[in-house]
Amino acid sequence: MTNHNPNHKFKVVITGRVLPAARELIDPVCETVVWDKPGPVPPDLLSAWLADAEGLLSTGNIPIDASLLAKAPRLRAVAQVSVGYDNVDVAALTARGIPFGNTPGVLVEATADIAFGLVLSAARRIPAAYEWVKAGNWRPDSRFPLGVDLFGKTLGIVGMGQIGAAAARRAQASGMRIIYYNRRPRPDDSAIGAAYRPLEDLLAESDFVLVLTPLTPETRKMFDRARFSLMKPTAYFVNAARGAIVDTPALVEALQTGRIAGAALDVTDPEPLPPDHPLLSLSNVIITPHIGSATHETRSRMARLAAENLLAGLAGKPMPACVNPECCRR
Ligand code: DGY
Repeated sequence: MTNHNPNHKFKVVITGRVLPAARELIDPVCETVVWDKPGPVPPDLLSAWLADAEGLLSTGNIPIDASLLAKAPRLRAVAQVSVGYDNVDVAALTARGIPFGNTPGVLVEATADIAFGLVLSAARRIPAAYEWVKAGNWRPDSRFPLGVDLFGKTLGIVGMGQIGAAAARRAQASGMRIIYYNRRPRPDDSAIGAAYRPLEDLLAESDFVLVLTPLTPETRKMFDRARFSLMKPTAYFVNAARGAIVDTPALVEALQTGRIAGAALDVTDPEPLPPDHPLLSLSNVIITPHIGSATHETRSRMARLAAENLLAGLAGKPMPACVNPECCRR
């Protein structure tokens, strides 16, 4: 356990806007520098800030890797306000003995709402229906094009973790059958009411493919032309995980050629999409701006957990949610 002078204020860098729930915990015991402008913190400024920083609270918009750590010789704790940490080289942090915390659990229900909301919106074309009404097309002699039922359809979840199980519950309430793919089948298949399938079988059987797997070297671009070609032409592709899990040109081709019926994406590669990106010109696509966890309640819980992780790490105590627990006890 590290001896800590109670009058010492830890120097902490915060890389983006964080909610008061985090600042209320951090500000009384830390001296902070905060990047609260749009876009990522400029690299030169970040380097200057990191030179004497003991803590880093990341909002997920910068790569945290060995080259960044080399600029932060005094760093002793890193926390990020997200469950995903594909921007973080955890091995590099562990090599320096720096604990790293993320925010699992607290965003499960909100993210499952968006995931299932995208499935429903794609099936019933809710955004297009609203555009149609706003364009003045709702007249006695006109009908909005029909959507498809969820009832009786098969939802294939790729990445059946906590968020997948919560999305499955929502889909079951709509009368869907659930199948899933993970690297290994879960021991509690029957408890979550979902049947395991190898990925190729899942793609061929599903009416909706919902991606919730983390971005790792193994899952990067796992949805490529070959995988889209296994899907039914009537099927929808839904991604609420990370954009880079998808080979975006292959998705555009599958949508343009009618290889699949449509897509609903809360995440894209790149993010944000440039205004002239082909995905934005397709009528069979719905896109939301990475809002899986974007509710007041959930983002506050994430901010609080990230702050608790940071402060525990700075104090040499175990973080409540530590990704590299071998560094979490000193
Ligand atoms: C997460 O927590 O990983 C969300 O996707 C926000 O980045």
